[in-house]
Amino acid sequence: MYDAETYIGRHKTELDTPALLIDLDIMELNIQKMANYFATVNTELRPHVKTHKTPIISHKQIAAGAIGVTCAKLGEAEAIVHSGIRDVLIANQIVGTHKIVRLINLAKHSDIMIAVDNDDNVHAISKAAAEKGVTIRVLIEVNIGMDRCGVEPGSETLSLANIIGESQNLKFEGLMGYEGHTVAKPNKTERVAATKSAMQRLIDTKHLLEKNGINVAIMSGGGTGTYDITGSIPEMTEVQAGSYVFMDSTYRNVEGVGEKFDCALTVLATVVSRPEKNRIIVDTGLKVLTKEFGIPQPAGLQGVEMTGLSEEHGKMHVSNEDISLKPTDKLEILPTHCCTNVNLHDKFYGIRKEIVETVWGIAARGRSQ
Ligand SMILES: Cc1ncc(COP(=O)(O)O)c(C=O)c1O
Repeated sequence: MYDAETYIGRHKTELDTPALLIDLDIMELNIQKMANYFATVNTELRPHVKTHKTPIISHKQIAAGAIGVTCAKLGEAEAIVHSGIRDVLIANQIVGTHKIVRLINLAKHSDIMIAVDNDDNVHAISKAAAEKGVTIRVLIEVNIGMDRCGVEPGSETLSLANIIGESQNLKFEGLMGYEGHTVAKPNKTERVAATKSAMQRLIDTKHLLEKNGINVAIMSGGGTGTYDITGSIPEMTEVQAGSYVFMDSTYRNVEGVGEKFDCALTVLATVVSRPEKNRIIVDTGLKVLTKEFGIPQPAGLQGVEMTGLSEEHGKMHVSNEDISLKPTDKLEILPTHCCTNVNLHDKFYGIRKEIVETVWGIAARGRSQ
């Protein structure tokens, strides 16, 4: 086994496999296109780390204009803060004594902001923050139709905001509503209608809080599928899109998004067997490819379909017998869900014009705690 860095300067097909590749030109263009959009609207971009889990990519997004980052987990946030980024939203609840201790300690080194949806959790964080002498910035997560976390819009949100207002060492910053049930609707007209109706619940709640004398400085939501819908709503202030940086074959089918951003992420595979003319086996199975959004397919190859994945094998059906793929040949597979696929790998190989330019450790990979 070679050190990953020894591949720098070589052609990508010389890489040992399975290997996770980023086409750097495409990724950089995706970052720039998203930054260009946010330069034209009043909302700001706070890109989600969960997609790449890699500090250097967050730094590139911030250099292009993003105001900070969004994380899913405390462990991700720790990795990002240690890389020198201060303005971090953890768009989730931080629950339990041990995690709250970690949060409070992280606040010594960052301007951390979290989501809350429960008064006991608010009291626990407030008490711990007061003991340590730090202030934690807080958004209330409102359920705008996804039915995951979140307080109900309206009076329930108002009463939690009042509790936060009376809690020491917490700063109420505003509201968060993630429209996860609309982001991947392929049809644009349907997606726009569903997103606007979801975000209206957040907007109505903001107005209710303001009528009660509570300032709502931040309104956060949005994903790759809705960046320009949620991003163009005047009441919103921040968008949390993540997948746009790499894209995947699922988002490629979302109208208006798939045409705009290109796929930067692939998994390089080697053909290990062709037991029959119509059957090819590659060395990429479930331990390097995820399939909850469907079985990933080879990039740019017609007449070959991945039909199944076991732990270490990918089974492909060949309908075009002119395809000459044989053991030792390499091909690239396009993930169906970039975010979970990245989390299976230790490192990225950054490729430019087919040559390995860089190797990046995926610092927050597996940091689910
Ligand atoms: C809270 C939250 N915000 C934003 C996103 C947006 O991600 P994406 O850009 O992948 O749609 C997600 C995706 O799961 C999320 O859970």
